[in-house]
Amino acid sequence: MRRKLAAGNWKMNGTAAQLAELTAMTEVANTEQTDVLICTPATLVNRAADTASGSAVAIGGQDCHANASGAHTGDISAAMLADAGASHVITGHSERRVDHAETDAVIAAKSEAAYANDLIAVICIGESLQERESGQTLDVVGTQLQGSTPDAATGANTVIAYEPVWAIGTGKVPTLDQIAEVHDFIRAKLVERFGAEGEAIRVLYGGSVKPSNASEIFAVSNVDGALVGGASLKASDFNAIISALDEA
Ligand code: 13P
Repeated sequence: MRRKLAAGNWKMNGTAAQLAELTAMTEVANTEQTDVLICTPATLVNRAADTASGSAVAIGGQDCHANASGAHTGDISAAMLADAGASHVITGHSERRVDHAETDAVIAAKSEAAYANDLIAVICIGESLQERESGQTLDVVGTQLQGSTPDAATGANTVIAYEPVWAIGTGKVPTLDQIAEVHDFIRAKLVERFGAEGEAIRVLYGGSVKPSNASEIFAVSNVDGALVGGASLKASDFNAIISALDEA
């Protein structure tokens, strides 16, 4: 049985005042069946880890460098995130693939750096609108999954997030059949490559998840939770998504 995971990605949002929302999330999250993760901006990881200490909410970063240390101005290593109190790190978010030209090979290297520092890598994949409309969705998702996921991936160190780029921040969500098609495909590819570990790796859906659509998305086969952007900034929204996952 895979444990469910409600993950929030705060992206480039939040200063110290935002920690009040995290506090309100720690009051609802419980560890019975659902894991809860908030990936804060790097500047908040340390304080967020303190705020969430002793609660069921884990804290993650949103990116890490592939190298352990060195002359990489502005970058943050996986060891630094772990030192600041993170247990997870997002790798390969589509915004980084686009804004920073990250390739699958770079994302695999970042994910390996995460493993080396006992961080769980939340590896993101997903097609653009043009790729979906030209019928390339499964090809693109399959290529990104293969190239971005290290050989050392296990159920304990890796989470895959399927985030169609066109659904991020747009209010557009794929049909439940479209979500099922991609999640079933990802599961089959993971099992083909990793065997029993491929069964254990959780696969999240991300892209315009809200309290109003969470329950129906969580009922789709091979959806083990969500990676939530905008609706993870407000505890009232994210707590409702956690509850929907608890009840799924
Ligand atoms: P939204 O939930 O705001 O669409 O963002 C999804 C996302 O990119 C999470 O990583």
